[in-house]
Amino acid sequence: MFILPPLPYAYDALEPAISAKTLKFHHDKHHKAYIEKTNKLVAEKGLTGRSLESVIKSTTGELFNNAAQAWNHAFYWESMTPDFKKPTAPFAELRDTFIKEGKKHFGSGWVWMIATGDELTVVTTHDAGTALKHPGTALIVCDLWEHAYYLDRQNDRKAYLEAWFDKTANWRFAEKQLRASKGEGEAFAYPASEDVSAQRKSA
Ligand SMILES: [Fe+2]
Repeated sequence: MFILPPLPYAYDALEPAISAKTLKFHHDKHHKAYIEKTNKLVAEKGLTGRSLESVIKSTTGELFNNAAQAWNHAFYWESMTPDFKKPTAPFAELRDTFIKEGKKHFGSGWVWMIATGDELTVVTTHDAGTALKHPGTALIVCDLWEHAYYLDRQNDRKAYLEAWFDKTANWRFAEKQLRASKGEGEAFAYPASEDVSAQRKSA
């Protein structure tokens, strides 16, 4: 059974860039629903015990959609922080491309920075599309589904992307992922239930 990882910060910790109302709905309703559906389908298909990453890489259709959305959202929570620090050069150089690509992406999806060898690129994926199925290592992601910003910004996706990039993006997480892409340390993996209970005990 996959768990809903707790948000790594309080619901109101990213205000004013992202409101407590948006984060609460996004985490407690949307992310939770993807995980519940994934668990139901994994059980029906006899895939219990597999990692979420393995389920995503080996399935299509409804199970892929829900499992990838569960993974993408956990990665998105880590991609933000209330303790914002300005991005360092490689990320700052991609700011305008990231915002432009995110703004023009048609419909629902995600905008990522991905490291492939020494190259950093901006990639968008549609719907539940995930960087896990893309070559390279995902560094950071912003959710482009309307549920991520509509309560706060209505249809102004650009304002959401700018506030996200300039006020909440977790560039230390991106740097950690970049080091992992070069073999230094572990890249993000979806938390196992025991990891979360250990985290809660030590908090
Ligand atoms: Fe979302």
